Amino acid sequence: MGEVTNVMEYQAIAKQKLPKMAYDYYASGAEDEWTLKENREAFSRILFRPRILIDVANIDMTTSVLGFKISMPIMISPTAFQKMAHPEGEYATARAASAAGTVMTLSSWATSSVEEVASTGPGIRFFQLYVYKDRKVVEQLVRRAEKAGFKAIALTVDTPRLGRREADIKNRFVLPPNLTLKNFEGLDLGKMDQSNDSGLASYVAGQIDRTLSWKDVKWLQSITSMPILVKGVITAEDARLAVHSGAAGIIVSNHGARQLDYVPATISALEEVVTAAQGRIPVFLDGGVRRGTDVFKALALGASGVFIGRPVVFALAAEGEAGVRNVLRMMREEFEITMALGGCTKLSDITRRHIFTEADRLGRPLPRL
Ligand code: FNR
Repeated sequence: MGEVTNVMEYQAIAKQKLPKMAYDYYASGAEDEWTLKENREAFSRILFRPRILIDVANIDMTTSVLGFKISMPIMISPTAFQKMAHPEGEYATARAASAAGTVMTLSSWATSSVEEVASTGPGIRFFQLYVYKDRKVVEQLVRRAEKAGFKAIALTVDTPRLGRREADIKNRFVLPPNLTLKNFEGLDLGKMDQSNDSGLASYVAGQIDRTLSWKDVKWLQSITSMPILVKGVITAEDARLAVHSGAAGIIVSNHGARQLDYVPATISALEEVVTAAQGRIPVFLDGGVRRGTDVFKALALGASGVFIGRPVVFALAAEGEAGVRNVLRMMREEFEITMALGGCTKLSDITRRHIFTEADRLGRPLPRL
C-alpha cells in the first residue's frame, strides 16, 4: 500500500481487501445511484471567495456540539456492521474518534454493543436509533445506551423501508455467520436470515416500525433525557416540524444516498434547512464529505458540523484503527489549510460570503455583509 494522501484512496484499498458482498454493501447507493454521485458533485460546484492578508498563524477549529467540546467540526456517522470491515470494528472507530477528540455515532446495527463500545474508554458518543415495531425493545436499548454514557440519540427518520440497493439484492446480502447485531443479541433479534432479497431489507421489513411519525419524537423524549437529533431531514417543511417537535438538532442527511434516489445532494439541501431552523437548533450535515474544503463549504452554508460515513468503513477495512485515525487526521489537516487559505482563524469567521454556489451564479445576489 503506497502512501495514502486523501480519504478517498481508502475505497480502492477496501475494494481489494474485502469480500465482494461486504464491499458492495458499504459502497452502494440506492437504484441508479444518481444521488450517490450527486452528493460528491454538488460539492464540486461550490467555489470559494477567499480573503487575503489576514493573520492566519493560529487556527482554532474547536467547537461544541450539544454542549460538548470537540476538537473540530468533523464527526463520525453511524455505519452498520463495522466488524465486517475489520475484526476490531466499532472498537477501533471508538478509539480513533476519542483520540481525535471528536464524536463517534454508534449504529443500532453495530456488531459491538453499546456496553462494549463504552468499555473502550472515555469519549463523546452518540447512539443512532432505529425504531423497532416492538417499543419495549427500543425502550430497553435507549436506556442501555444512556447508562453506557452515550450523550445523544440520532433518530434516523428516512428508513421506514430499506432503499433498493441492487448489489445487495443480487448478492443476497447477509451478515457473515460469525457476526450479529450485537445490541439485539439477547432479544432474539440479532440475526439476519438469508432471504430471496437483501437479507437486511427483509430484516427491516419484519422489524422496523413503518408507522413512525412526529408524535414518536415526543414519545422518545418521554423515555430518555438524552437530546435527540433528527437524522434525515432534507426540506424546510420538515426542518420546521423538527424544531416544533423539540428536537435538539437536525442532521441533513440522505443516508449516504442509500434510501430515496433522486433526492438532492445534502449540500444542496442544507441552506433551506438552515434558513427554516432560524438558528433555533443546530443543523449538521452528512453525505459525500471527503475533503476539508467540503467541511468549509458546509459551515459556510450554515452547518454547525459535519459527519462522515464511508471513509471510516473503507479505512477500517484497509488498516483498522490506524486507518480511521488517519482519515480524521487528513480531514483535519485539509480543513485547517482551507481555513488558512480562506482567511479564517476560527469557525465563526467562516461566512456565506466565503463561497459562491450555483444559485449565486444564476443571479441571486450574494447576501449582504
Ligand atoms: C450507513 N448509514 C447509516 N445510517 C444510520 O442511521 N444507521 C445505520 O446503521 C447506517 N448504516 C450505514 C452503513 C453504511 C455502509 C453506509 C455507507 C451508511 C448512513 C450514514 O449514517 C450516513 O448518513 C452516510 O454514510 C453519510 O454519507 P457518506 O459520508 O457515506 O457519503
